[in-house]
Amino acid sequence: MRRKIIAGNWKMNLTPREAVDFANSIKSAVDTDKADVVLCVPAVSLAPVLEAVSGTNISVGAQNMHFEDSGAFTGEISAKMLVSMGVRYVIVGHSERREYFAETDEGVNKKARKALAEGLVPIICVGETLHQREQGITIDFVRRQVRIAFLEISQEDAVKCVVAYEPIWAIGTGKTATSEQAEEVCAAVRQVLGEIYSVEVAAKIRVQYGGSVNGKNASELFSMPNIDGGLVGGASLKPEFADIVNH
Ligand code: PGA
Repeated sequence: MRRKIIAGNWKMNLTPREAVDFANSIKSAVDTDKADVVLCVPAVSLAPVLEAVSGTNISVGAQNMHFEDSGAFTGEISAKMLVSMGVRYVIVGHSERREYFAETDEGVNKKARKALAEGLVPIICVGETLHQREQGITIDFVRRQVRIAFLEISQEDAVKCVVAYEPIWAIGTGKTATSEQAEEVCAAVRQVLGEIYSVEVAAKIRVQYGGSVNGKNASELFSMPNIDGGLVGGASLKPEFADIVNH
């Protein structure tokens, strides 16, 4: 049985002080018996939010990392640094990173492998554009993203990963995929994982849906057989995040 995982992706929002205030308000409102709860906060807020949620079952995640251990990579943060702070998760390959920071499938694979090597859980994001959906190539496109993301990842490591299926046209648009659309692609993600590893391994990997998840649509989306929770952007910055977890 896969345990649900709800991750908030705060993106580039809140100062460290605001982040602590919000984390404090969320920590008493979410029921961590219902799901694994992860707050993916801006790098400057990692330390204070880790402190704010210490002693709870809430985990903290980063929104990005570099795939090298150290070196001349100005502005970057390594997996080792994140782990040393107590960070447990890292989002890799978010569509905004792919679009605005030229991240490639190959880079996503390198980051996922490094995250795993250091003991971080990568939340690997995949998803199609509206144009791709309209062309009818969603499944092919997402299957390819998953295949490349999991290259050279062992099955022992694969079961630790989380995949977030996020149709780009649904991110921040208020336009959610229907639960059938989301389920279709999440099932395809699981199928390709089954082809790479085995059906048993694929059955253990958690697949989230993301894209305009809110307090109203979460419970239907998360009740679908292949959707194991969500990656939540806008609504993760509101008290509504607790409704999404507690649904
Ligand atoms: P959204 O963002 O919930 O605001 O659509 C989701 C995401 O980008 O992870």
